[in-house]
Amino acid sequence: MRPPLDGVVMITGASSGIGRALAQELAPRSRVLVLVARRADELNALAERLRAAHPRLRVLVAPCDLVERPQVDAMLESVTQQVGEVEVLINNAGFGDMTLFDLADWERTRRMIELNIVALTYLTQRLVGPMVKRGSGGILNISSGLGLSFVPGFAGYIGTKHFVTGFTEALRLDLTGTGVVVTQSCPGPVATEFAGHVGNFTGQEVPSMMEISAEQCARESLRAFELDRAMVIPGVLTWVMMALNDLTPRPLRRLLLAQVAPRLRELQQRARQETR
Ligand SMILES: NC(=O)c1ccc[n+]([C@@H]2O[C@H](COP(=O)([O-])OP(=O)(O)OC[C@H]3O[C@@H](n4cnc5c(N)ncnc54)[C@H](OP(=O)(O)O)[C@@H]3O)[C@@H](O)[C@H]2O)c1
Repeated sequence: MRPPLDGVVMITGASSGIGRALAQELAPRSRVLVLVARRADELNALAERLRAAHPRLRVLVAPCDLVERPQVDAMLESVTQQVGEVEVLINNAGFGDMTLFDLADWERTRRMIELNIVALTYLTQRLVGPMVKRGSGGILNISSGLGLSFVPGFAGYIGTKHFVTGFTEALRLDLTGTGVVVTQSCPGPVATEFAGHVGNFTGQEVPSMMEISAEQCARESLRAFELDRAMVIPGVLTWVMMALNDLTPRPLRRLLLAQVAPRLRELQQRARQETR
């Protein structure tokens, strides 16, 4: 069973990073790409490039703040009117927040939950029914390696990605035998705008050997999706890290990671004092 990637494919978070790379990968194969994100100028620039390189491709730019439900409903209605039913949904839009949870900003946490969890679930709910009726479709959810593990300093983000991982596994079971392919991708560090928005107060960069490109992440995610795999962890080193994570007993991981938290608290409090 294969997801109909040659049909109408909606990609959320297509204005940068992994979403943009997914659009570039799919452009030679899909009939219609629907590009969703807030920054219309970035989406239009990408659409222009894709149309120029692939004259048979139809690209629909659908600017939308996925946190705002009325905008999501209007966007879905307009997309259906213009290109018909979405055959494949790629839930990629998301952002992270590096902070000890007691020091987190609630409004930012709320928006992260609304985007990473609520919007992903709502879009899936709205679009999956017709896929089941047609007996064909695909949902690719971009979770994270942090959807499979836990570390201090990311409680809110990790909570959202654990939701995505659990939801996607269970959705895949629900849709057994319906003709709808459900896959999740759980990348580690990917070189995108993500790190610039995450609020890193540690002064430490992600080691470059751990980081993969958005293009590699997109390619490996799509390959697994096409093969009807339940999950893919793009990047060999992240895959190894996740295997080690699985092999380490949870109580030992708790004990080791708890050593890091007090140092993080010191760094975050110092960073806060410096910005006052
Ligand atoms: N990069 C990593 O290290 C990494 C690792 C693991 C998992 N991930 C996951 O990969 C996914 C893609 O992230 P990325 O790395 O490609 O980061 P990115 O370059 O920052 O892309 C995030 C995308 O989400 C869109 N977005 C953000 N808020 C939105 C909103 N309210 N409504 C609609 N779209 C919104 C952004 O577009 P606009 O700003 O134009 O709205 C952008 O297109 C995320 O789910 C992230 O959690 C990333």
